[in-house]
Amino acid sequence: YEDPLDLMDEIDALKKEKDATLLAHFYIEGNIQEIADFTGDSLKLARDAVKVETSTIVFSGVHFMAESTKILSPEKTVLLPDMHAGCSLADSCQYGDLLQFQEKLRAEGRDFETVAYINTTAKVKSLCDWIVTSGNAREIIDRVPEGKEILFVPDQHLGRYLQEVTGRKMILWPGSCMVHEIFSVQDLLRAKKNNPGSIVLAHPECPHRILEVSDFIGGTEKLRQYVMSIKEPGTFLVATEANMIHPLHKSAPQHTFLPVPGIMSSTGETCACNRCPHMALNTLQKVRDCLKYGKPEIEWQPYFDKAKEVLERSLLQ
Ligand code: 13P
Repeated sequence: YEDPLDLMDEIDALKKEKDATLLAHFYIEGNIQEIADFTGDSLKLARDAVKVETSTIVFSGVHFMAESTKILSPEKTVLLPDMHAGCSLADSCQYGDLLQFQEKLRAEGRDFETVAYINTTAKVKSLCDWIVTSGNAREIIDRVPEGKEILFVPDQHLGRYLQEVTGRKMILWPGSCMVHEIFSVQDLLRAKKNNPGSIVLAHPECPHRILEVSDFIGGTEKLRQYVMSIKEPGTFLVATEANMIHPLHKSAPQHTFLPVPGIMSSTGETCACNRCPHMALNTLQKVRDCLKYGKPEIEWQPYFDKAKEVLERSLLQ
């Protein structure tokens, strides 16, 4: 056992010694967010990363995030505390399957562009025309010419939601996020009933059955902005990865935030199903070790060149 406070001091010292900047996604444990130089949603972190001046970036998040950072900043050393920190959405869309499906659509004479959620591998990104995050999806979809069909991969729930808000018809890939997929409408409705006046916040990766009983839908940064805009203390039920409560509470401490389903599981205890097991591989020990030993490192791959064009056009222009 190592004391978290000692580890936090050690990480602070190593950041200086190794000329490193620490980025942490809002779904990472609170202690790591506390010592990160930048925290944020996928879009903000991708943009912050290109402004970093140190020679090394430690990305406390999941593989596709560190990979995108390396692609946008090839000259940097990009470290990911645990190489096994993957993503169920990225896993649900494999390069060969997407290529085959695109070829089938082309053979049918369909005129389409492929829009990928950033939660994909770089190899998949290299097959796509646009990359979106929950934070910029609407504006990117508006950039797809009107006459074209949209193939949206891999999140069917986000895609369905975007169809609704943009009015654009999409061909949806059947992927979903293991964390958002698992919320129970019944638990959510019980929590709402037991907390009269509470406001339900949901990430658009949630299935339709959850979104239709939610009061506010948005990516993680949008959720943070929303709770900050409400000055009167309130109770919010949070239908996304439970670590999100850390930045919400920090930004708007006047409110009470309850995870969904969390406290409402049938045993009455907090349930761990609203935690992303991949994000959870990021521990203080692993952040310290990757700074200390300079690995695991994201290595440049030949298909990064094509993915770079798509990422730059979509996120930086
Ligand atoms: P945002 O932080 O962009 O809302 O995305 C959440 C997510 O899917 C992280 O994997």
